[in-house]
Amino acid sequence: MQSFKNRIAEALAPHSGLPAEKLAAALETPPDATMGDLAFPCFALAKTLRKAPQAIAAELASHARGLDFVEEVTVAGAYLNFRLAAKAVATEVLPRVRREGARYGSRPARGERIVVDYSSPNIAKPFSIGHLRSTMVGHALVEHLKHLGWDPIGINHLGDWGTQFGMVMAGFKLWGDRPLDKVDVRYLLDVYVRFNKESKGDKPMEELAREWFRKLEAGDAEARQLWDIFREVSLEEARRIYARLGVEFQHYTGESFYNDRLSDTIARLRKAGLLVESQGAQVVDLEAHKLPPCLIQKSDGATLYATRDLSAAIYRMESYRPARILYVVGAPQKMHFQQLFLVLEKLEPAWSGRFVHVDFGHYRLAEGKMATRTGNVVFMEDVLDRGVEMARKIMEAAERGGDLEAGQDAVVAEQVALGAIIFGDLSNDRVKDVVFDWEKALDFKGDTGPYIQYTRARIASILRKAAAPVPETADWSQLASPEEKAAMMLLLKFPQVVEAAAAANKPSFTANYLLELARAFGRFYNLHPVLKSEPAVRDARLCLCDAVGTVLELGLKLLGIPVPERM
Ligand code: ARG
Repeated sequence: MQSFKNRIAEALAPHSGLPAEKLAAALETPPDATMGDLAFPCFALAKTLRKAPQAIAAELASHARGLDFVEEVTVAGAYLNFRLAAKAVATEVLPRVRREGARYGSRPARGERIVVDYSSPNIAKPFSIGHLRSTMVGHALVEHLKHLGWDPIGINHLGDWGTQFGMVMAGFKLWGDRPLDKVDVRYLLDVYVRFNKESKGDKPMEELAREWFRKLEAGDAEARQLWDIFREVSLEEARRIYARLGVEFQHYTGESFYNDRLSDTIARLRKAGLLVESQGAQVVDLEAHKLPPCLIQKSDGATLYATRDLSAAIYRMESYRPARILYVVGAPQKMHFQQLFLVLEKLEPAWSGRFVHVDFGHYRLAEGKMATRTGNVVFMEDVLDRGVEMARKIMEAAERGGDLEAGQDAVVAEQVALGAIIFGDLSNDRVKDVVFDWEKALDFKGDTGPYIQYTRARIASILRKAAAPVPETADWSQLASPEEKAAMMLLLKFPQVVEAAAAANKPSFTANYLLELARAFGRFYNLHPVLKSEPAVRDARLCLCDAVGTVLELGLKLLGIPVPERM
């Protein structure tokens, strides 16, 4: 798209009084493709040219008419609309996608890091669907950033410290009836849920939990041993889920990692004159920002979530020197991050603007459908297993999978289930709440991940059935139908969609683009045969299929969605 913009801008520049770069930047995509493929609003020129924008549009039109890649130029009020020639679009985009393949739309390495803090479950509790959302959004952002030449550092800021551990330890000491090597995360959850219930309003029990956490903080050997084991069994579960999702982190530096840095952090805040005493506690006052004070240390000396986050941010800024730190965490923590970022910016003004809270809304499973509940917690593994089972049934019922080799159906069912759940999340604007419904998300014809996976697999199957490999090039004038052009226009748009998704930290841009591309492919393929066409047409259409397949595959990978070859 950029190259067409540049070429139009160069043709207009001598008659506009503005440099070509400015004009190129002003060219936009019309809201409706029937108006044209690119539009230039002439308002900006009215001042320099001292004419009405409508008159300018009419005049500039004559200078744009000679361009060989433009099929039609129309004036609509103050807008100049350009319709690109299908052949020019094909010539531009198909060889490029072919040449660049999985690198299409990528940028060269910039040598700059971005820390992405994501997933970050609270362990000693099972992995919840809320953390799944952070995991998927975070992973998609990491993949987008990599594609765009950044060096992302994925960090899992495990919630592996805090009073919840005191509760599990106290509960385990009270009722634990399993040897330590037989403890798993579901067992720990039972202990936690029971303790939570029985200790409500029970002062001695609450004190017992605090007591255990104090022991842990003081380095008591038994507390430490329990913590180690509880942490390890919880992590085991999380790691199994990450392996299924194909997610990897560079670092598992959770809250406990910062224990021996907290006193330095507090000293640093004090030295900067930021700490004030409030009812025996140490706080940073944020009154001027209309926010409650940021609590750093309680009167009994205990530190808090915020203290550990401050230490973590300082550590990351100083050891990785990133351009930005993204925190992929639900919207309920908005105030926590506002406070955190303000304190950091007061501490180091040079860090201003480098911290971003990538917030998101709730993700709920459709009520009463298929979640296994224990103590009101939805186990992520059960959710995934359930999805796999349903995917398999749907595929059997639709007699899909005829194309599969023996033993492949289990693998594909897993891939489709992941496609459903990941896309079901990422296709929604992250700030919105999402209600997840397996039946809808697995609909092969709906606006779903499986629909995109299926389109991609269908293309792979067409290419397999073609007697010869996809030709290097073809007679592009054969791709003249509106359906072919629409698909190619979308291919052209892909790089800017990925850039926009990364800039807004919204993988939903890429997800929705893939839907559009898959739909455009469907419209083309319904009307225009590929393998049965005469050779010149077939070759050109095969190239188009190949390019759409490449971009669908690349886009799915940027979202962290598996790409089955056959379905
Ligand atoms: N463990 C926290 C929770 O589940 C999320 C941590 C997010 N990251 C951070 N640096 N605070 O609520």
